[in-house]
Amino acid sequence: MTRRIFVTTALPYANGPFHIGHIMEYIQADIWVRFQRMQGHQLHFIGADDAHGAPIMLKAEAEGVTPQELVARIAAGRPRYLEGFHLSFDHWYSTDSPENTQLSQDIYRRLKSAGLIYRKSVEQFYDPVKGMFLPDRYIKGECPNCHAKDQYADACEVCSIVNTPTELIEPYSTLTGAKPVLKSSEHFFFKLSDRKCVDFLEGWLGAAGRLQPQVANKASEWLAGKGDQTLGDWDISRDAPYFGIPIPDAPGKYFYVWLDAPIGYLAALKSYFDLGKARAHGEQRSFEEFLSAPDTEQIHFIGKDIIYFHTLFWPAMLKFAGTPYKVPSHVWVHGFITVSGEKMSKSRGTGISPLRYLEVGMNAEWLRYYIAAKLNASVEDLDFNPEDFIARVNSDLIGKYVNIASRAANFITRHFQGALRYTGDLAALRSAARAAADAAREGYETREYGRVMRECMSFADSINQYFDGERPWVLAKDPSQAAHLQDVCSRALYGFKVLSVLLAPVLPHLAERVARELFGLERAFVWADATVLPERINPYQHLMTRVEGRQLDALFDDSPTGAAAATATIRSAPVNAPGTSAPGTAPPGTTAAGTISIDEFRRIDLRVARIIEAEAVAGADKLLRLTLDLGNEQRTVFAGIKSAYDPAALKGRLTVMVANLAPRKMKFGVSEGMVLAASGEDPGVYLLAPDSGATPGMKVT
Ligand code: MSP
Ligand code: ZN
Repeated sequence: MTRRIFVTTALPYANGPFHIGHIMEYIQADIWVRFQRMQGHQLHFIGADDAHGAPIMLKAEAEGVTPQELVARIAAGRPRYLEGFHLSFDHWYSTDSPENTQLSQDIYRRLKSAGLIYRKSVEQFYDPVKGMFLPDRYIKGECPNCHAKDQYADACEVCSIVNTPTELIEPYSTLTGAKPVLKSSEHFFFKLSDRKCVDFLEGWLGAAGRLQPQVANKASEWLAGKGDQTLGDWDISRDAPYFGIPIPDAPGKYFYVWLDAPIGYLAALKSYFDLGKARAHGEQRSFEEFLSAPDTEQIHFIGKDIIYFHTLFWPAMLKFAGTPYKVPSHVWVHGFITVSGEKMSKSRGTGISPLRYLEVGMNAEWLRYYIAAKLNASVEDLDFNPEDFIARVNSDLIGKYVNIASRAANFITRHFQGALRYTGDLAALRSAARAAADAAREGYETREYGRVMRECMSFADSINQYFDGERPWVLAKDPSQAAHLQDVCSRALYGFKVLSVLLAPVLPHLAERVARELFGLERAFVWADATVLPERINPYQHLMTRVEGRQLDALFDDSPTGAAAATATIRSAPVNAPGTSAPGTAPPGTTAAGTISIDEFRRIDLRVARIIEAEAVAGADKLLRLTLDLGNEQRTVFAGIKSAYDPAALKGRLTVMVANLAPRKMKFGVSEGMVLAASGEDPGVYLLAPDSGATPGMKVT
């Protein structure tokens, strides 16, 4: 029976480009999606940008653009990544859309009719200079426990205690530096504590096979009020100014971004239907008919940090909004990707730049394979380790898999004009192929990709062993062994075909080339091809190159120049003053005359930053590790200023940093920007400092 499935991945915040965590999530989902398509199921794979919320509004404001412009700029960069990593979304949309406004307001009205919405006055910090209520992440102050300065309320970095913003001593707004005042305002709440919500969720979470056991347990603990999150009613409104969807009949009130974000899954699906794209995928029904059909599967792939929203609020909202809405069939949760054991920052995603990966010419399918090989159905984190990456890709993909075709195909082309012929009993070969396909199907279905990759590689091992054992290079010298040689190579090539079909969800491009170029099919593989013995092949063409260590070096750019570049030096003597540069020697980015346009300059995001921590780096004689406060976030920067400054004297100082420099992985950690310093012919480095009155995060223009 054909399954009808609607698959989503978490909607990424539209305040920055994709990071490797996003790409990992999309690869996981894409493998599952491609596998289901190969089974002949009807699949709709939908993504969108999560556009709303205070951070995006403030970021746009800081850049002097509208939030819509910011979101559009980010959206324009998406296809490069999606195509580059062969991510086969059928539609990519945005939560800042008419469909989402309509659906969010509709769901809200239905929840209100169900008696699940109420209003309550809430007292909150308000920035009188900015004229807005402050989300906690924009408030800092002194920790009441250990008296460390400049701490966020949620967890003191020094003593780890959790405070509320009102408990901070001398709180200040990181947006303006102003002292926030307490102000009350009416908020809207979704009554998650209502008996009917709790009863429903207990049943929903408990249904066998709906969620991974760890996920269901965690959510059930929250529901029961145990664990690290207590379940209360949910504050779903925010006051103007806010970039979001207006709450009907409540001037100046907007939905909190987390209310409209998951509804954005459905809004993107609706737009996909309304544009006729679903029809092109064989779905003739309307959006409402499709969504409400009992056999439609709604599946969300997400990361472990957003379980709370997806397994409590989201199903409850859908349940009590009623038809055509339907609760999710599954929420599949993955762990985080780390790079050489290091966590990356959620918002900026240092570690591996997916764009750089593509730019240095690395093959997307290497990464897809590596991630697949390390994924399973648990919520465990997954580590990207460069040495391991090289070893696995080269030994598995090249040494085991591709190797079969390159060796066997040449004999067939040279001696048999491309014809395959099998002699002797085929029962064992057929049953081995069927068993491999069945095991792979089960593994993909349950997201145990690592197991599938291992089984495929041991299948490849057995083919290679068989091939070597038959010594085809010896058979080729003896004309009386021709039929035997043809049989051996045919069997090996059938094994290669089976593997290509089974690996196609992971290696879609390679598999399609194998289907068309080597086996002469006029289409990509479908699953059933695994049990069909091929009769001919075309001459073998090179399929995949090995990963080189230098490509990983380029990806991480661990070179000493990377460290030097973490400090920009402004030299007293003009290096490239107009007219002094010899033709052709202008460094990249400058015009021949040595000038840049104002637009080029504006691309550099210079910010006032406060040095909150400065320390020497063990093993580096020039570097200091600086922790910089940028108002709404912190950065680590390695700067080559050790010779000139005592770290202790730097603490608390303001300086200027380049905030949009691509993160660089260095030997000692990741440098997330650079600070500006002046230097001349004589030794001495002089850090730039703004005049008093400047506050962290201010833009330097
Ligand atoms: N906008 C929300 C999701 C709304 S869904 C209705 C959000 N966005 S996010 O950009 O921060 O994260 C998007 C997805 O990336 C989430 O599933 C998150 O778990 C995932 N990841 C973020 N960092 C990650 C890793 N380091 N590794 C793997 N996935 C990670 O949350
Ligand atoms: Zn403290």
